[in-house]
Amino acid sequence: MSTSAGPRVPQHIAVIMDGNGRWAQQRRRPRAIGHRAGTRAVNRCIDFCLEKNIAALTLFAFSSENWGRPEDEVGALMKLFMNALDREVAELDRRGVRIRFIGDRDRFNPPIRSRMDAAELLTGNNKKLTLTIAASYGGRQDIAAAARSLAQDVADGRLQPGQIDERRFASRMALADLPPPDLFIRTGGDFRISNFLLWQLAYTELWFTETLWPELDAATLHCALEDYASRERRFGLTGAQHASQDVPGAALSPDETSA
Ligand code: FPP
Repeated sequence: MSTSAGPRVPQHIAVIMDGNGRWAQQRRRPRAIGHRAGTRAVNRCIDFCLEKNIAALTLFAFSSENWGRPEDEVGALMKLFMNALDREVAELDRRGVRIRFIGDRDRFNPPIRSRMDAAELLTGNNKKLTLTIAASYGGRQDIAAAARSLAQDVADGRLQPGQIDERRFASRMALADLPPPDLFIRTGGDFRISNFLLWQLAYTELWFTETLWPELDAATLHCALEDYASRERRFGLTGAQHASQDVPGAALSPDETSA
């Protein structure tokens, strides 16, 4: 759908970067080579978002379940994360990217954890693009953590059970300070959410492609944006109703985030 201001562009894109292993296998190379090629695709995706003035990009880099992969593959991925943190952060900072991590950071080794902390600190005031890396992340784990935090407030007498509603719950989830993703992209040909942002994707437009992640390019991302622009988002309302009112899902004001 186009407006007088041009085609509608998503402000927040969430991506499952799937297909690294198959890309490597097709070339009879170890899976780790696919992940390495995947990091170059990550850079192309960030470049695209910066060029299109997309405000937020959330990438699923490593799921809470991925720890169960063969030891050598997990080790190769850790090395890649470490190298990427050492190599890319200064340049991303220069380009105005705010870097953040969601997921269970405690499971990473101390050198990676300290680089994650340092990257967040260095880039925390940048405004051009918020790049969130989901690492050791699971959507169910995210929901359970929010429930645990609210339950603690109830146990400590700071909150009444009746005060728990969707907005308050959302304020305890990862990405609480961002609008929910407008567009979800999954490469690699599977049609699944795979325990990614289960809560946050409730009204997100979903887009799937056979393209394997290492082959991702601007043309593929253009296709996703074109398809997104053609969709009518209604958020459970009729088209006419939605056109005449604000989009639901506004964030809590700071004084509402706790009891
Ligand atoms: C899924 O492909 C991909 C991953 C589990 C890792 C994603 C990591 C990267 C793209 C590289 C590093 C990222 C950053 C942010 C520096 P798969 O291995 O499941 O592929 P397959 O389905 O073909 O086996």
